[in-house]
Amino acid sequence: MPKTKNICTIKTLSLGPMDNFIHLMIDEESREAFVVDPAWDSQAILDELDNQGANLVGIFLTHSHADHVSAVKDLLSVVQVPVYISQEEYRLGYIKLDNPTFVTDNQYLPLGESQVQVIATAGHTIGSVCYYVTPHLICGDTLFIDGCGRCNFAESDVDEMWESLQRIKTLPDDTILHCGHHYGQKKTDSLGNQKQTNPYLLIDNKDFFIDFRMNLQGQYRSIPFAPSSSVEMREIAKEHNYI
Ligand SMILES: [Fe+2]
Repeated sequence: MPKTKNICTIKTLSLGPMDNFIHLMIDEESREAFVVDPAWDSQAILDELDNQGANLVGIFLTHSHADHVSAVKDLLSVVQVPVYISQEEYRLGYIKLDNPTFVTDNQYLPLGESQVQVIATAGHTIGSVCYYVTPHLICGDTLFIDGCGRCNFAESDVDEMWESLQRIKTLPDDTILHCGHHYGQKKTDSLGNQKQTNPYLLIDNKDFFIDFRMNLQGQYRSIPFAPSSSVEMREIAKEHNYI
């Protein structure tokens, strides 16, 4: 890991009819900022950058579903900044860019004095990534508060989602999660807390995980997702013969 002095603040906007969170990552010293998954209302994003006295230096995409990228074109018509996306995601063809900047797993991108790490987290889409600047993880539709992203799109892969969440679980417990949608009862949480209440982090059996994500969730959970518990998940696993 490069030598780093992370002094990054996250400012979050709630925009659009699908409860999207649009996050600004702002370096406190230089006031340079990235916006993650700009959608729905480019003016609201520009206004917030103004309020923060921040200077937009790039657009990070976690993935390319329309509710995460619908303001990219409008923003680029006002500010010419690079757009970062994984090549796997770009190949899906959901967004067309003149000159995308491809990000790869474990790459570090400078934001003022901070270093933002790209973590590939295929699952919701095969090219999904998270952006990590300690202690903040911007996790798109990979992880929600007490939930995780759908894996039943043509571009999804539930096996990869399992692997991605196992990897996220290795980050420090004091990591603060910043999700792509407001689907939980609170807007953010620590990874340590989510390991106690998020069914997808509680489940430790891959087959049960896949069945729960692909088939069973709807029987037990609805938005806003309530916290779960290891006891509840064990009961469900028993009911479906995974224990
Ligand atoms: Fe999505």
